Amino acid sequence: MSIEIESICKRFTKKGKEIDALDDISVRIKEGSFVGLLGPNGAGKTTLTKILTTLLIPTSGEAYIDDISIREDKKVRQIVGAVFGETGGRSLYYRLSVQDNLMFYGTLSGLSKSVAKKRIQSLLNYFDLEEKKDALVMKLSTGMKAKVLLIRSLVPFPKVLLLDEPTLGFDAESSEKAKDLLNEFNREFGTTILLTSHNFPEIDELTSRLILIDSGKIVQDCAPTIFKKKAVQEYVHLIFSLPPLPTDRFRMSQLPTEIFKQLVRDSAGAEITSLQEKDGLNFIYEASIRPVDYTLNETISRITVLILRASGEIYKIAPYLPSLKESFLAFLAMNKSEAARDQDLTEKMFTFPLQEEDV
Ligand SMILES: Nc1ncnc2c1ncn2[C@@H]1O[C@H](COP(=O)(O)OP(=O)(O)OP(=O)(O)O)[C@@H](O)[C@H]1O
Ligand SMILES: [Mg+2]
Repeated sequence: MSIEIESICKRFTKKGKEIDALDDISVRIKEGSFVGLLGPNGAGKTTLTKILTTLLIPTSGEAYIDDISIREDKKVRQIVGAVFGETGGRSLYYRLSVQDNLMFYGTLSGLSKSVAKKRIQSLLNYFDLEEKKDALVMKLSTGMKAKVLLIRSLVPFPKVLLLDEPTLGFDAESSEKAKDLLNEFNREFGTTILLTSHNFPEIDELTSRLILIDSGKIVQDCAPTIFKKKAVQEYVHLIFSLPPLPTDRFRMSQLPTEIFKQLVRDSAGAEITSLQEKDGLNFIYEASIRPVDYTLNETISRITVLILRASGEIYKIAPYLPSLKESFLAFLAMNKSEAARDQDLTEKMFTFPLQEEDV
């Protein structure tokens, strides 16, 4: 087991108010996995990552990295590579050059000077920072500093990478490069990676397990594809044409929407959630359809039959799985409305004995 987290709680006290940033978090992460940590602002992601890198001590609970307790900070720091994108500025020496910073941290992790130099050279090349190797860190742009921080975490080829918004500030090309590199570390060296990011495609493309935290609690823990299916239902994306009805002489280009909706309901047991004209002249329409009575595949075949029977044509019919971002937003909204309902129920329960007719 690479990362074990057992009942971790972290309570902060701010202006006399107590905040449970982490409330009884338990997780086991297998060696070699690539796990995404997602959650809204203030969910507790950075707090958890900082506890695992020994930068913060938990209020209660235990955690182990490769069977070493996080209380043994020196040993843990030897095997962990970490990036804190948002507060990263403080983890570099501003008055030292890029190369000196990286050499300092590289040799600190036990690498020989020649190995450290070679790795630093190739990573700087990879991220197009070769020209900046002698520049002082304080003269770098935000994105460049972020790249140096990521390079710093990678130079020792750590067994475990704990990355908190590591690509914050990266341009599009560098983000793609970072994704490829992290993927390679995970696949080639078996590096266990816990990645926090608000960049949804990054999490979606890289990770095979998603841990979602909200208000200090784990609210989901599954594969990204499963999460999407759980959070938002799959739709059918349909592009089709139907010939105009003979009776529809004066409104030839308009689909008799209500009739079509009824047909889809009756013969495919499904609900049309959006229907638009795509090409009025050729009677082409685009629709998204939510399966209700049948499975996704059966809905697709029933709609196909329906359109062909009506002498229409199908240009595209395919399942549409929403993006991770859409699913995440839908899930949070669902969670919020459930919490509001529970709150409502609790309030009702409390007021119930006090109602007039009951007194
Ligand atoms: N040093 C601190 N003192 C007091 N409260 C803190 C401290 N650090 C974090 N918190 C609080 O703990 C909670 C969790 O914060 P954390 O930084 O872990 O969130 P996050 O999930 O990383 O959010 P973001 O997506 O914005 O980075 C927040 O309510 C935050 O205000
Ligand atoms: Mg954070």
